[in-house]
Amino acid sequence: MMKTKALCFGSLNIDYVYEVEHIVRPGETLDTKRPGVFAGGKGLNQSVALAKAGVCTAHAGKIGPDGAFLRELLERAGVDTSSVAVGADSATGHAIIQVDPAGQNSILLFGGANREITDTEIEEALAGCGEGDILLLQNELNATEALIRAGHRRGMFVAFNCAPFSEEAKSYPYELVDCLFVNETEGAGLSGRTEPGEILDALARLCPGIVVLTLGTRGAMAAYRGQTYAAPAFPVRAVDTTGAGDTYTGYFLAAFAEDGDISRAMRLAAAASALEVTRPGAAASIPAREEAERFLRGMA
Ligand code: RIB
Repeated sequence: MMKTKALCFGSLNIDYVYEVEHIVRPGETLDTKRPGVFAGGKGLNQSVALAKAGVCTAHAGKIGPDGAFLRELLERAGVDTSSVAVGADSATGHAIIQVDPAGQNSILLFGGANREITDTEIEEALAGCGEGDILLLQNELNATEALIRAGHRRGMFVAFNCAPFSEEAKSYPYELVDCLFVNETEGAGLSGRTEPGEILDALARLCPGIVVLTLGTRGAMAAYRGQTYAAPAFPVRAVDTTGAGDTYTGYFLAAFAEDGDISRAMRLAAAASALEVTRPGAAASIPAREEAERFLRGMA
């Protein structure tokens, strides 16, 4: 069983969030309501989720001088930020997020400093990591493949959330990944299939580790060593679904690291992400472990 110590090497973004009547259409100019500025980035969100779920978490990544508040938020969540570099001439990554009345979102990304990760920064961040430590990655950095390989070389438990999907992601070394997270879009992009069962089967052939396929309000499925798992989503009134997948990822890993029980990890992750979507913003709305456990007890 792996130790519960994690390094999340991932993106840090400033999220500019706009409430809209509908997601803007081509050629359309749309008025927005209630603009908000939040801490985000799939990496930052997943670090917060891991830490709130009880994992001893360090974050590595890069920001510009304008992103200091992102590092402070991580620190307040109990995350070690000594491997978050500040590029003097870099611009912090940002996201422009539209949220519709049903809480669905649409995201435009500017990678900025997230896409300036160097080999030296990877070596330094991983220097203190070893056998069984979790390395959690997403697909918003320029160095995903190098990180998968570096984590595997050190014997780390490599978890990869393939979000957002990119064509490049098709050629990553999935044989080195211990836990792969995808949603339906990412799963379809990677597998070339559209039906969830077929996506899962195809990804299980690609990746020998645990494969988790999240399906939004339809719950999630997983596959590992020839066994398949399914867990429903909990019905809630969604306000903003931004960060739901990140919350799921962090909570799943935290629970799985405790006892290796995939079904239990899926239930706790579903509870945490159900709570997360009932509040606006990404990192700021990730629930504490106690709240997620209480919600789960209420659902029993
Ligand atoms: O998963 C949600 C995140 O995606 C947002 O916080 C945004 O920054 C983008 O990275």
